[in-house]
Amino acid sequence: MRRMILPMTLAAAISLGLLGCPSSKNLVANGEAVDTSQLSPELQSDYLVFSQRCSKCHALSRALNSGDRDDVFWQRYVTRMRRQPASGIAPEDEPPILRFLHHYSESLRAERGGQK
Ligand code: HEC
Repeated sequence: MRRMILPMTLAAAISLGLLGCPSSKNLVANGEAVDTSQLSPELQSDYLVFSQRCSKCHALSRALNSGDRDDVFWQRYVTRMRRQPASGIAPEDEPPILRFLHHYSESLRAERGGQK
């Protein structure tokens, strides 16, 4: 059984596009790849919901490239996206998605602050 674990983890990582930029230490590289290895387990599962729900109609980068936004912006957008026909986003998907986006915006701000 143990032998199954690595291939399965790898397959999951590849299908999620997590192996795009393994050397990057940033949460966001090029607005697309998100290195989740430094996130808490809670945020990693929040990210999973985000990456599955928000990549159906457009690239994930469409959301990620919106950059550092406040919670009001994200709340408005996630609800707007959820209300699109056949969005596949349930009301209960919103809290994890919003938690991830909150953290994402915060980390962008922190990074920018650090570069000044
Ligand atoms: C049902 C299809 C669909 C899903 C699912 C979807 N989007 Fe969108 N998204 C769109 C469309 C269509 C547009 C362009 C029209 C608009 O801005 O409303 C868009 C635009 C956007 C924009 C604006 C980008 C810009 O160029 O200004 C953001 C940000 C965004 N989406 C984020 C998200 C997030 C976050 C999620 C997950 C909660 C998500 N989207 C899920 C269809 C979708």
